[in-house]
Amino acid sequence: MTQIPRRDFIKAGTAAIAGATLSALGLGSITAHADGVIPEKQVFIYTCPVCGEKFPDFGRLKAHFEKAHKELEVPKTVSFLINNVEYDVFVEDHWTLREALVRAIGLTGNAKQMCDRGGCGSCTVLIDGRPALSCTTLAVECEGKRIETSEGIAADPKYRPLLEAYVRNDTAQCGYCTPAQFTMAKYILNKYDFAPTEEQIRLELSGNICRCGTYARHVKAIMEAAAEMKGGR
Ligand code: FES
Ligand code: FES
Repeated sequence: MTQIPRRDFIKAGTAAIAGATLSALGLGSITAHADGVIPEKQVFIYTCPVCGEKFPDFGRLKAHFEKAHKELEVPKTVSFLINNVEYDVFVEDHWTLREALVRAIGLTGNAKQMCDRGGCGSCTVLIDGRPALSCTTLAVECEGKRIETSEGIAADPKYRPLLEAYVRNDTAQCGYCTPAQFTMAKYILNKYDFAPTEEQIRLELSGNICRCGTYARHVKAIMEAAAEMKGGR
């Protein structure tokens, strides 16, 4: 069967997600609604990777693909839950989760391409509650998994104290590593029952490299958020 030209597949794989940008942190595409409530359903447009025609749901896109592009192999479908929203997307076999987040979903917060080989931690997401490097995880491995990124955590009212502590402590310089550090912060708070020690935070964040040297600020922000959130968890 004929393969889809790679360039066309990539070009049309992007979807649009509505929301206002929380730019205070410099976290790129973190999105949240003004009232701080996570929307039940986000606007997601399914685009045919060959002709660019748009559909409101994946079923119609797949039916269109099979009928209109019979000569082509139907791309692999992956279904996963990202920030509590279910997605079915077309991916190429070799796409990493990082590539799928950017190309198929349009989430760029944690999907940073820094080292792209598992060395810097700037692409860290949570998969089923545990930190994982999205640059070394294949998208097809994530079938049925629950994925959390900085966009979802920032939009969750429960983690508003963490977000505010990050802003207050000026944790972002260039901001490249910040979404992954922020995602790790949520993991650390939960792992240590909202009372991590400074040493535990430093140990957990040791895989997240910051070329701007903001390390101490993350520790302070997480300690402050922990103090504020412990009573209300
Ligand atoms: S970009 Fe994934 S670990 Fe560096
Ligand atoms: S803020 Fe620049 S790499 Fe961390």
